[in-house]
Amino acid sequence: MTQSKGFATRAIHLGYDPTAHEGALTPPLHLTSTFAFETAEAGSEIFAGERPGHIYSRISNPTLDLLERRVADLEGAEAGLALASGMGAITAVLWTLLSPGDEVIVDKTLYGCTFAFMHHGLRKFGITITHVDLTDPANLTAAMSDRTRVVYFETPANPNMRLVDIKAVAEIAHAGGAQVIVDNTYATPYLTRPIALGADLVVHSATKYLGGHGDLVAGVVVGHAEAVTEIRLVGMKDMTGAVMAPFNAMLILRGLKTLALRMDRHCASAQLVAKWLEDHPEVAVVHYPGLESFGQHALACRQMAQPGAMIAFELKGGLEAGRRMMNGLRMIARAVSLGDAETLIQHPASMTHSTYTPEERAAHGIGDGLIRLSVGLEDVQDILDDLDGALAPIRALRSA
Ligand SMILES: Cc1ncc(COP(=O)(O)O)c(C=O)c1O
Repeated sequence: MTQSKGFATRAIHLGYDPTAHEGALTPPLHLTSTFAFETAEAGSEIFAGERPGHIYSRISNPTLDLLERRVADLEGAEAGLALASGMGAITAVLWTLLSPGDEVIVDKTLYGCTFAFMHHGLRKFGITITHVDLTDPANLTAAMSDRTRVVYFETPANPNMRLVDIKAVAEIAHAGGAQVIVDNTYATPYLTRPIALGADLVVHSATKYLGGHGDLVAGVVVGHAEAVTEIRLVGMKDMTGAVMAPFNAMLILRGLKTLALRMDRHCASAQLVAKWLEDHPEVAVVHYPGLESFGQHALACRQMAQPGAMIAFELKGGLEAGRRMMNGLRMIARAVSLGDAETLIQHPASMTHSTYTPEERAAHGIGDGLIRLSVGLEDVQDILDDLDGALAPIRALRSA
């Protein structure tokens, strides 16, 4: 299968030939912790990297291998690595690349546990974390130092939907000798391919859209083959041991088959929900890249094939109204995570981003009243009806 085939076709077929597996249409699940060597010499040669082969499933496994090749291809990267979780991927990458004394420049907003890892994990080991507002790439030029090894950001960022111009930031980072790592969880390779825009490595919480069904926790990293091998052998094998279970790899391979289809539906529904929210009298502000009112709408049109399916919004009645609305929902689940078939709603300040102190949240643009919505695959009218039903009593109360 070559890059000349379309995205959906590659997500279904790439890297697997049923005729080499007794005709099994679905790739086999290799539930094995270790691999038998034909001879002692063959085992030594595989260990020495002189002959291809698997050794032990904390290093590699054929089911994971297929997933790694498929995600790498969809992202336009040379190689991929499957890990136990998105946090497993992020920590394995950064433990591999960084040493005491190094500096990481990160955008102002990060997913709560990534923020916690940077501040409470990396800092403990003498690594400097510098937050820079990367929505204006010029800020990076001024911030780069000779200790800056990595520039790291999410686009769109969790939870407030800030976008970063990958190409512009990568040019500045590379000129200063730093590597660029993009968390592409929100966009997926169907909407944005950071490697083509200059990123060195891309990380994912595969728990989200790549898996797509809310039934597993997993992570992936893709990038240059040499860098990915180092992350496999150092960050994953020796430092974190955060290996993905083969069964999860199989579920993600199944999820990938419908990634294009699901993202089209997710995005179409999210556009309607975002517009509906924007027009609702109880809603103060909606952050969604597909809205013309979104401050970075032009960048969204340039960088994203579609605006995604995550929406952040605030009600005029603030946090109290937001909580009341969440409690009034009948179908939409009050739950963290995102990218599932089910529409999910959560309150970042008290949930996913409670790893920030209130002062940090204020400084990093995460409002107390902000609500995060992951638009699912239900009939969009049912999503709108549920939101409408939960907002009606709030409207009645405020106009009483
Ligand atoms: C943007 C982003 N990156 C990374 C992660 C961490 O992924 P995981 O929960 O799979 O460890 C999350 C989790 O919500 C996320 O939203």
